[in-house]
Amino acid sequence: MSISCKAGSRQATSADAVVVFFFEDSTLFSTATRKLSSEISDLAAIIKSGDFTGKANQTAIGYTNATKNSASRFILTGLGKKADFSEEKLRRAAAAATKKAASINCKHIAFDLSSADSLPVSVTAQAIGEGSQLSQYGFVKYKTGDNNKFVTKFTIICSQATLKEAQKGASVANALYDGVTVARNLANAPNCEIYPETLAKEATVLGKKYGFKVTTFNKQKIAQLKMGGLLGVNQGSVRPPAFITLEYMKGPKSQKPIVLVGKGVTFDTGGISIKPAAGMSDMKSDMHGAASVIGTMVSLAALGVKRNVVGLIPSTENMPSGSALVPGDIVRFMNGKTAEIDNTDAEGRLILADALCYADKFNPEAVIDLATLTGAIVIALGNTTTGMMGTDESTMKKLQNAGDKTGEYVCRLPLYEEYEELISSDYADVKNSGGRAAGSITAALFLKTFVSYPWVHLDIAGTGINPKAFHYTPKGGTGVGVRLLTEAISNW
Ligand code: BES
Ligand code: MN
Ligand code: ZN
Repeated sequence: MSISCKAGSRQATSADAVVVFFFEDSTLFSTATRKLSSEISDLAAIIKSGDFTGKANQTAIGYTNATKNSASRFILTGLGKKADFSEEKLRRAAAAATKKAASINCKHIAFDLSSADSLPVSVTAQAIGEGSQLSQYGFVKYKTGDNNKFVTKFTIICSQATLKEAQKGASVANALYDGVTVARNLANAPNCEIYPETLAKEATVLGKKYGFKVTTFNKQKIAQLKMGGLLGVNQGSVRPPAFITLEYMKGPKSQKPIVLVGKGVTFDTGGISIKPAAGMSDMKSDMHGAASVIGTMVSLAALGVKRNVVGLIPSTENMPSGSALVPGDIVRFMNGKTAEIDNTDAEGRLILADALCYADKFNPEAVIDLATLTGAIVIALGNTTTGMMGTDESTMKKLQNAGDKTGEYVCRLPLYEEYEELISSDYADVKNSGGRAAGSITAALFLKTFVSYPWVHLDIAGTGINPKAFHYTPKGGTGVGVRLLTEAISNW
């Protein structure tokens, strides 16, 4: 899928529908009629009825007396009050318009760029390109019926003078769409399809396609490296673990890389500390951190960003069995440190610990890890905001800014040393669970034990897995992190 730009008039498009945006304001009737009354015969009635006021994400259909090469309908779409307008508002409005179009079986829609004219052209085109395309996602590959219910072709109609800028924005949107879609597909794939070896295979295929290097360590190599956290979590599984390294080195040779670490638990049953049955299927997405890292590599490569970026993915299932870890066990990580297993369901931090040790080898500029790490972050921040904790103010500032711009919000939680006693162990260097209080913070403090460079941890347990569709994110795997990290790294 992609969005393309075309200079010309909205009357001359062959799309099934043309989207025209309006701000909510008292002069709506006059602006609307000025723009459209000659094209939509019942426009006055639509507005007079109060059915369309320009409220954010509101839509109404206006029919035209279509001549041959023109769309037969317009989708009037509200942007809300001009004073509250932002890129995120436009993404959401574009998504609402696209969903409306899909509901009436449109396959090709065109956006009238000039109707949303309060941000720079490239920013406007990018936001439309993201919101529209990202709203048309469904994990439908296992459905054998008719899945042909999506808009599949997108055009931005602009003037000759704005074409170049519009194309710039559209091509960024297309690169982000590719990365986010890769992440969503990986996150939504069930464990019977995506387990450590197939996750590594997918990463390898994508590396070849987009241009980044992928190396996979098998169980033997992981044992050689003494990654006792990854091996420990894996020991209850029939399927072997994998440790995947992705390298996108398009910056100057001397530039220290940014290292992204993604939790790759392809299914989390909880292990011996087994989870309740209700909702356990969501845990097929417990490798969303890994999916976000792979998706980010795809977007960075598609954009040709000139930076050195390394991705590290420790991957395993977390299964209960006669050979599984049990509470009281002690594991030793690759740096020699030890952890007491208090709860086998706190497995993410065990595999991340080894990856964070391994990250050291790259002499990183900064390390950012992404993980569906704690249920506690869902309680704290819901599905809207990613929890951010770390040791590096500068990287956190960059992520905060990128979050505000992309709508992939992050909010910082503290790592005060007072919390450390919650994970102190009588028998090992640290304990893998601190109980219910401050669960996201103690998880991050556990990770901090293994960090020796500027570091930020993103807990995406809430933002990575949607309980229902929101504006342009679907139910299930959201692809969160891809737009956030691509934005942050592009402007590092
Ligand atoms: N993968 C889960 C966290 C999770 C919960 C992700 C809900 C997405 C949605 C993680 O491995 C986990 O089980 N964490 C435990 C930690 C506890 C045992 C200290 C949790 O949050 O309950
Ligand atoms: Mn768990
Ligand atoms: Zn988990």
